[in-house]
Amino acid sequence: MENTEKKQVVFSAIQPSGTITLGNYLGAVRNWVTMQEEYNCIYALADLHTITVRQNPAQMRRNILDAYASIMACGIDVEKSIFFIQSHVHTHAEIAWILNCYTQFGELGRMTQFKDKSAKHADNINAGLFTYPVLMAGDILLYQADKVPVGADQKQHIELTCDVARRFNGLYGDVFKIPEGFIPQNGARVMSLQNPLNKMSKSDENVNGCVHLLDPPEVIMRKFKRAVTDSDACVRYAEGKDGVNNLMTIYGAVTGKSFEQIEAEFAGKGYGDFKAAVGEAVVEELRPIRERYEQLIKDKAYLEECYRKADETALKISSRTLGKVMKKVGFIR
Ligand code: TYM
Repeated sequence: MENTEKKQVVFSAIQPSGTITLGNYLGAVRNWVTMQEEYNCIYALADLHTITVRQNPAQMRRNILDAYASIMACGIDVEKSIFFIQSHVHTHAEIAWILNCYTQFGELGRMTQFKDKSAKHADNINAGLFTYPVLMAGDILLYQADKVPVGADQKQHIELTCDVARRFNGLYGDVFKIPEGFIPQNGARVMSLQNPLNKMSKSDENVNGCVHLLDPPEVIMRKFKRAVTDSDACVRYAEGKDGVNNLMTIYGAVTGKSFEQIEAEFAGKGYGDFKAAVGEAVVEELRPIRERYEQLIKDKAYLEECYRKADETALKISSRTLGKVMKKVGFIR
């Protein structure tokens, strides 16, 4: 128990806006799992974040439960870590409003994800899409997190979180812990298998570009076999070889091998062998996750029991920070 008190706090979240991807897994969720050994880990399904883009309500309900089971299947241990659903913990929406009033319009306008998403959804550039990083800042700051394991695409949002926290602390004293991003060396930015200049994403129009955590082995193999490479026909990491670089990144992240080791392993071999090896390594990495998912998703009562318990604990912890924030700002408690 004494030990637990001293552990640093880790917070991270994922949007349940579709199936979880290999990018989500290698960039973030895999670290969530390993960090459970050393840290007090708090993880969330960021369902409030998903409605910045229109969702079909029935599909959204299915996605949330599916994502909950998928993340647990990756190895989140609910006895060790808190894994809750953001919309069940009202402090998140409340702190987001308060922090909105401490975040500048210009700061949010510089967020590259906002620029990308507003270009993609030009017919629905809603205020939520704009203020989304503030909700994310609130998620992190509510738990006084030390470390935030994420992929490279969230770095800018974490920097904003730190800026807002420092601004608030500058006005009211040390209310928030200043968090730090935790971005993996390898796998922080997994690219589309079909267009390796774009991030691998759930919303990839080309189904072969994105590997989903729950894809059956034959589908994974097919996607890797069709992965875009180049005409160089040599497995080496070099500028301009984006497709091969991406496959090497994935293979390295899954097997733990360095780029030099991978180059040596495939010296004199063609891309066909290489792609098959990457596919097989990914299949083996994901196989136990899919099997565990199949069991978990059948037991809705157990899933509910897990998130209800976590929701309650998350509310307790986050209420402490929110209470402090409201008092400092001047609300009557
Ligand atoms: P989301 O749901 O888009 O992605 C979840 C995590 O997966 C990482 N990721 C990737 N990593 C490597 N390669 C990729 N192609 C790739 N695609 C996604 C993301 O960096 C992320 O770590 N705003 C967040 C969710 C969130 C959050 C938070 C995260 C809400 N509140 C508080 C941390 C702390 C998001 O949309 O992630």
